[in-house]
Amino acid sequence: MFPQKAQYNNDLRRFCQAPLSCNDHILLILGIESSCDETGVALYDSATRQLTHRLHSQVEMHAAYGGVVPELASRDHIRRLIPLIEAVINESPRSLHEIDAIAVTQGPGLGGALLVGASVAAGLGAALGKPVIGIHHLEGHLLSPLLSEPRPDFPFVALLVSGGHTQLMAVEGIGRYKLLGETVDDAAGEAFDKTASLLGLSYPGGPALSKLAENGNPARFKLPRPMIGSGDLDFSFSGLKTAALTLTRKLEAASALDSQSRADIAVAFQSAIVEVLVTKSLSALTSSGMTQLVVAGGVGANKSLRERLTQEAARRGASVCYPPMELCTDNGAMIAFAAAMRLSEHPTLLENSDTSFNIKPRWPLEEVSST
Ligand code: KG4
Ligand code: ZN
Repeated sequence: MFPQKAQYNNDLRRFCQAPLSCNDHILLILGIESSCDETGVALYDSATRQLTHRLHSQVEMHAAYGGVVPELASRDHIRRLIPLIEAVINESPRSLHEIDAIAVTQGPGLGGALLVGASVAAGLGAALGKPVIGIHHLEGHLLSPLLSEPRPDFPFVALLVSGGHTQLMAVEGIGRYKLLGETVDDAAGEAFDKTASLLGLSYPGGPALSKLAENGNPARFKLPRPMIGSGDLDFSFSGLKTAALTLTRKLEAASALDSQSRADIAVAFQSAIVEVLVTKSLSALTSSGMTQLVVAGGVGANKSLRERLTQEAARRGASVCYPPMELCTDNGAMIAFAAAMRLSEHPTLLENSDTSFNIKPRWPLEEVSST
């Protein structure tokens, strides 16, 4: 599915060859991500735009429980984080003493999991005498498409679609984020995961459901497109999930839930969710007068969503930008990169480093200021 780690790094080096703009500050940032079920570490060099990153996914560990078990997540981050930092430093031509700052996900996320990253960052910062910068997890996702080439310019509309969030944001610049709309119940990724589980697929179900949908007949079932005509930019996915459940139970009761039927439900579910996401994203472009859409978060890896968004946006003269595929899900690279972007605009942040590891498990993105 994903390329091997070594290949990631080679690919990323290729992604990151664009020249620096003249106001970029030259910084070497160590990024740490531990907000949920992925331990991510990266070293980002803003002079060369080179990135070395490593990721450990806990997916297999949580799959047995059908979802993330917070206590197990925290314990695994403790086991993985230091070896991952060592691996990244060993792979990079730079040493730990050369870094300018440590960036760590401060929130939102699971409290215990965030504490692991924050305490390692604080300890490392104190030992090396380096500043620690707390980064908003969603800001990391939001800015990660800027790691691709060609790099989008501000302003743009961002569609954030992950396991915990579904939001449309207007992004005017670093730290200038305005919420345009969001889900009133389940996040898109959560709906994918729950429907996948209903179809007997293991956690996290998004990628598995999307694979199953490839064999489905899109003409067989039609599921509702909740709030598609609501006139605002909000979303609702819990009704769609219930509709998929009702359809599954009906087929089950008629002893007709064979593998083709599961694939047909999967494609009907995916088409409904993709159509809603595409329609609302295009409305956001129209209402904001912007012509660039940036897609971030795990669901942004969905092939059907990518194809439909690219097609529909092009039809309206707009463009869509995605992070490199392997940076769609949680990773340390986006945290290091977000810190580099912030510091390039506000170098004084280096002097106001906070090593008290004050995590923010609940933290609206709009509260992230531009200074
Ligand atoms: O951004 P992310 O890695 O973690 C959160 O911050 O939530 O997103 C994870 C979510 C999961 O719900 C997963 O099922 C979904 O992204 N996902 C997908 C695909 N790949 C990951 N959903 C649909 N299609 C995919 N290809
Ligand atoms: Zn995420």
